[in-house]
Amino acid sequence: MFNTLPQLPPDPILGLIAQFKSDPRSHKIDLGVGVYRDEQGQTPVLDAVKQAEQRLLNNETSKAYVGPLGSLQFNDLLAKLTLGETHPQLENVALVQTPGGCGALRVAAELIVRTSPKSRIWVSDPTWGNHVPLLGDAGVTLETYPYYDFATHSVRFDEMISALNANAREGDFVLLHGCCHNPTGADLTQGQWQAVTDLCGKKGLIPFIDMAYQGFGFSLEEDAFGIRLMCDQLPEVLFVLSCSKNFGLYRERVGAVAVKSDAKASVSSHIATIVRGIYSMPPSHGASVVAEILADSVLRKCWEADVSVMRTRIQVMRKKLVDTVNTAGAEGRFNHIARQQGMFSFLGISPEQVNALAENHAVFMIGSSRISLAGLNDTNLPVFAQALLKI
Ligand code: LMR
Repeated sequence: MFNTLPQLPPDPILGLIAQFKSDPRSHKIDLGVGVYRDEQGQTPVLDAVKQAEQRLLNNETSKAYVGPLGSLQFNDLLAKLTLGETHPQLENVALVQTPGGCGALRVAAELIVRTSPKSRIWVSDPTWGNHVPLLGDAGVTLETYPYYDFATHSVRFDEMISALNANAREGDFVLLHGCCHNPTGADLTQGQWQAVTDLCGKKGLIPFIDMAYQGFGFSLEEDAFGIRLMCDQLPEVLFVLSCSKNFGLYRERVGAVAVKSDAKASVSSHIATIVRGIYSMPPSHGASVVAEILADSVLRKCWEADVSVMRTRIQVMRKKLVDTVNTAGAEGRFNHIARQQGMFSFLGISPEQVNALAENHAVFMIGSSRISLAGLNDTNLPVFAQALLKI
């Protein structure tokens, strides 16, 4: 039976990891997957994580099941990190630990299918490639709204609002990136968040916010502006969180799905049933690490400093790249990179040029020309800048 299955191409982002690994050239540069790297090109375990793991090793007393909702302590602490300790709607938020942000997205999609099967999810054009299978394979219809203008490298905000206003129906979901939009790096301003909130309120649309990079834009607080505003002003908000990047816990799979509504207990009960039917319950280790860090003021300070180091390094690489290519004659063509937020920006070059960078210069990025700025460092940045200008 299985021999009838055709072989599929690898995922565009994950396939690149394998392609990069197998390239024999020692000067190769990886600007593909969104994984933080330090100046030495390493993805180290954060200091706060190491310390929390040591404490767990000393103090953990059981490996018994955690249950479909995960760790209640983690859920409480992550809700407070996201919304702020004093948010007026905290008690109306059902937040459930999941295996990474991907697990959260899938559970969210299943919740939409079970609650309101005719609702559609509006996703930005473009959006993170894996949004489509994670949400669409659950059976939800996806629609797109205009988001990024490749000519000006900014958000097509007026078109976004008009498209949603004209085409989205009451009960539809609008997928927004909480901060550090992946793949564009172009975020909504605070005024634009307010305008989208007003539109959702007027039309009965439900925001569905994916926040995978809290702390990588401006700060842990400012990056949560949109979620906090919408939870404050709208009756229902769906959001998903990832601790992969800001806690550096990628392979431990830590995230959460959350719903702000008046029906916290019922929502939790449905999420628990969905989870039991997919993976039964989330893995424990990563969430225990996060809870250990967030609950302890010393570890938390150490982690906040770690986040700030990662954010600043990426911002510095953005500026250095723009300065270096401009000095070499780019005439401002890549200036948008210094204005944008988070790990990613588009170079705005053709797929042929992306191929030429890989083949002739051993520089790897996905075909859309999205680069992960964290892959740059003081050693490889000038090499990359030269290669870019050559092609
Ligand atoms: C990315 O966009 O590179 C990251 O979110 C990693 C992934 O799973 O795609």
